Amino acid sequence: MTSTARKRIVVLISGNGRNLQAIIDACANNSINGDIVGVISNKADAYGLIRARQASIPTCIIPHQEFADRESFDAAIQDQIDLLDADLVVLAGFMRILTDDFVRHYLGRMINIHPSLLPKYPGLNTHQRALDAGDATHGATVHFVTPELDAGPTVLQHSLTINTDDTAESLAERVMEEIELALYPKAVALFCDNVVTLSDTAPYRTLNTPET
Ligand code: GRF
Repeated sequence: MTSTARKRIVVLISGNGRNLQAIIDACANNSINGDIVGVISNKADAYGLIRARQASIPTCIIPHQEFADRESFDAAIQDQIDLLDADLVVLAGFMRILTDDFVRHYLGRMINIHPSLLPKYPGLNTHQRALDAGDATHGATVHFVTPELDAGPTVLQHSLTINTDDTAESLAERVMEEIELALYPKAVALFCDNVVTLSDTAPYRTLNTPET
């Protein structure tokens, strides 16, 4: 593992927070060379907030409905993230589309997990779309966030075989359980060890530096 100072991680959520929990656990057992310094939710009832509080992580609720437009909502989130002096912003089921200005501000230091084998199925309902297409495989992708939705360069991707009796629900659970909960902490760890970075200029691509 590359030896560096522990990174300051801020996680943005909207819901259950199973990915958040996996990252909390990985920080706690030092699989990640970093600490979650704050969890921000746009939903007051997100269960992920309870997970954060149980781990003594500061939380902040910024309800999007209280803002006149996307720009002012994103500006409020940005203020909070920057107050926390984040090295890495982790989107973990954060169900808001972000403005280009916000994305550019965190370019190269913001990642997302998407439940499909990107570039297949950006957007919603990925599991049903994979079934409808008759795909043999499905999976999840961790990628750097760039202005185009779900289109940033891949950090890590993993696939599974779709079973003949899979439904959208069973597939969602299998992708979460068999892939996401391991893939996201692993990707965060690579970032925190400076093993993956984003190129400085467009067309953006993921750069892998050899582990030392
Ligand atoms: C995950 O399936 C993730 O891939 C997607 O949103 C879901 C979040 O689930 N972006 P959780 O809040 O981590 O449980």
